[in-house]
Amino acid sequence: MDLFDKAKQLLEEINSSVPENADSLEKFRIRFLGSKNVIKDLFGEIKDVASDRKKEFGQVVNALKEKAEGKYNSVKDSLGGSKKSSAAEALDLTMPGNPNVLGSRHPVSIVKNQVIDIFARIGFTVAEGPEIEDEWHNFTALNTPEDHPARDMTDTFYLQQDPAVVLRSQTSTVQVRVMETTKPPIRIISPGRVYRNETISYKHHVIFHQVEGLYINEKVSFAGLKQTLYYFVKEFFGDDFEIRFRPSYFPFTEPSAEMDIRQKGKERWMEILGCGMVHPKVLENCNIDSSKYTGFAFGMGVERLALLKYEITDIRLLFENDIRFLKQFSSAI
Ligand code: DAH
Repeated sequence: MDLFDKAKQLLEEINSSVPENADSLEKFRIRFLGSKNVIKDLFGEIKDVASDRKKEFGQVVNALKEKAEGKYNSVKDSLGGSKKSSAAEALDLTMPGNPNVLGSRHPVSIVKNQVIDIFARIGFTVAEGPEIEDEWHNFTALNTPEDHPARDMTDTFYLQQDPAVVLRSQTSTVQVRVMETTKPPIRIISPGRVYRNETISYKHHVIFHQVEGLYINEKVSFAGLKQTLYYFVKEFFGDDFEIRFRPSYFPFTEPSAEMDIRQKGKERWMEILGCGMVHPKVLENCNIDSSKYTGFAFGMGVERLALLKYEITDIRLLFENDIRFLKQFSSAI
């Protein structure tokens, strides 16, 4: 056969071959581009071509080679570049697996869950309320005077004025909501997010979390409040801590106190919560008979507890969502 005809035949073969998988593509490669391929063979026969057509023959063979390479590359791309053929070959059981990296809970969630758990053991159930509140639940029912600074727009975020709609500045709002709708005895804690118009610093943020506690029944006493909080501190911080109460003022409690904790042997007291006996006016505002019932309430900041427990020095770290920081915390709950 004429060598030009042979070349033409190879060209047709290249054009018509459609490697459909890695196997047939590899066969194609060996036949046309391998170290001993048919195009090379053909070129080896150039000595038999008439000398005035050698140049032309060279060009034909080159074109063949280019055609084969082009086809090979495009089919290879369309097959995803893999030379592996069968699924069995592609599956390399010795490759390391893709580990399923488990996330961890946010320290604020860990602490919040621990607080819920500790109070659940002595009969407190969880109650929740809205983050967008009216003036009544955030201030008025809680006996907050009209001119109290907390009502100021520099302290509380107002979404609307007249009638006022605020982002709640305390979870004490939930006390009111529960008392309005539930008959005593009431024993609840309400964890949740609160908002304050604060300048952000290492110890203040505009968003944080509180847990409010409320116990209303006949004959509830300040002694019961102290014992409840003492139990909480022992469970949360451990036996190594002592507590003290300082007189304080909140519009919704009378008497009111703030509670500090201190690690035994250490000098510094750290404030962890506000508390007191629910003010009779607050009970009456919620239609609870203050001559029959008394109650205690307390409110604590979750971030503050987290900072103390984990010895974190800047509250902003809790809101930056830096994985390197967050993955240090783990918990069963
Ligand atoms: N609501 C108070 C605050 O945000 C915390 C608080 C203090 C809650 C005393 C109480 C309480 O229930 O009795 O600062």
